[in-house]
Amino acid sequence: MQYIVDTANLDSIKHAIEFYPVAGVTTNPTIISRERSDFASLIKDIRKLIGNDKMLHVQVTGSNAEEMIEEAKALKDYVGGNFYVKIPAIADGFKAMMAVHELGIKITATAIFTQQQALISARAGADFVAPYVSRLDNLTSDGVQVVADMVQMFNNFDIKTQVLAASFKTAEQVHKVALAGCHAVTINPELFSTITYHPMTNYAVDDFNADWENAYGKDKILDLLK
Ligand code: E4P
Repeated sequence: MQYIVDTANLDSIKHAIEFYPVAGVTTNPTIISRERSDFASLIKDIRKLIGNDKMLHVQVTGSNAEEMIEEAKALKDYVGGNFYVKIPAIADGFKAMMAVHELGIKITATAIFTQQQALISARAGADFVAPYVSRLDNLTSDGVQVVADMVQMFNNFDIKTQVLAASFKTAEQVHKVALAGCHAVTINPELFSTITYHPMTNYAVDDFNADWENAYGKDKILDLLK
């Protein structure tokens, strides 16, 4: 499972890519608008920060298929590198996905709440589908099960589209979609430390350091190898 960071905040992205194996950045209009900065410079700055190899997902805002297609073309040219255009799983979105796919632009179908939205998006040419786990849970649906169903459907029909689960609040949700075979998750920057933190790990490290210091004082490995 690949890990992607779900933010447009440059400091948070910088921290995430420095400390964790992050495969890319996802944004959406809400995430972008939180930064209160010039859209064009912001996405350029994100691309510069993460380099050309990591994925950068940027969502269209057009209100019909034609606008979405034009935005997808313009964004691909402007953002460059490993770019994915995010297109919502609505009727105009599916129409846009089919055209954008024909143009060779990579697609993440987004705002997905049902298994059939995911399957239709895959058939329309999406490379990733992004189901919203917490928002499903909040509707008393089962976000993890919806993700598991999508993985199974894609396996059943030998579909290459990958599930990029989004909208996470807890480490447990992230863990459970991993068990379901989810291909990628996009999580907010804070969740990276939540999913990897355990007090016993810190306790063990403190213990190792104390034992080392008892034997070798302040000398570290590099001092002793001189
Ligand atoms: C992903 O790109 C989604 O837009 C995002 O994860 C939604 O998360 P939220 O439900 O926390 O807003």
